[in-house]
Amino acid sequence: MKIAFAAIIGTLACAAGAAALPNEQSQLPIKEFMGHVMQRNAEQLWQWTALETDVHGERSGKPVTEEDWENAESDALTLQQLSYALEHSAYRIADVEWDKHLIAFREAASASADAAERKDFVALQSAGDRINAQCVACHLTFAPDIEAPPPPLPEGF
Ligand code: HEC
Repeated sequence: MKIAFAAIIGTLACAAGAAALPNEQSQLPIKEFMGHVMQRNAEQLWQWTALETDVHGERSGKPVTEEDWENAESDALTLQQLSYALEHSAYRIADVEWDKHLIAFREAASASADAAERKDFVALQSAGDRINAQCVACHLTFAPDIEAPPPPLPEGF
């Protein structure tokens, strides 16, 4: 009885969902997508391989518990999945270079997820570096200004 009731609710929910889903793409500009979504999620992943120095000495973000490793894998998979949003018409720049950079970025994110699943810290570190290199590589092609070194400080600073 319970199962039948759940099935009816499920059918209703599906029907309502299908009717309500608008056929539109993201309204978030790419600048906002990068600054809020890509940057934030990449930082979260890089925390797992970061070395921090404070008054107590050096601390590593290295995953320790089963839950840490699961979370690191989730962070890498989030970046991997975000690469699909960059393939979508809302963000994709129609240029073979875009696709090339995107594929390389996705491969690095996948390698990171794989490393976390295997609890391989060295591989997690190098995949994190690869991800960073791919962020920079795409920027150098499509938004070189954001990777440019800051101008030298004026005399006296
Ligand atoms: C396939 C290409 C591509 C990849 C990969 C990519 N970006 Fe970007 N990113 C862009 C473009 C294009 C812009 C410029 C957007 C604009 O201002 O119009 C940008 C801009 C940015 C900005 C500047 C946002 C601002 O407020 O001006 C940040 C921060 C950023 N990206 C972070 C990242 C990080 C972190 C990664 C990797 C985890 C990454 N991006 C990967 C294409 C890419």
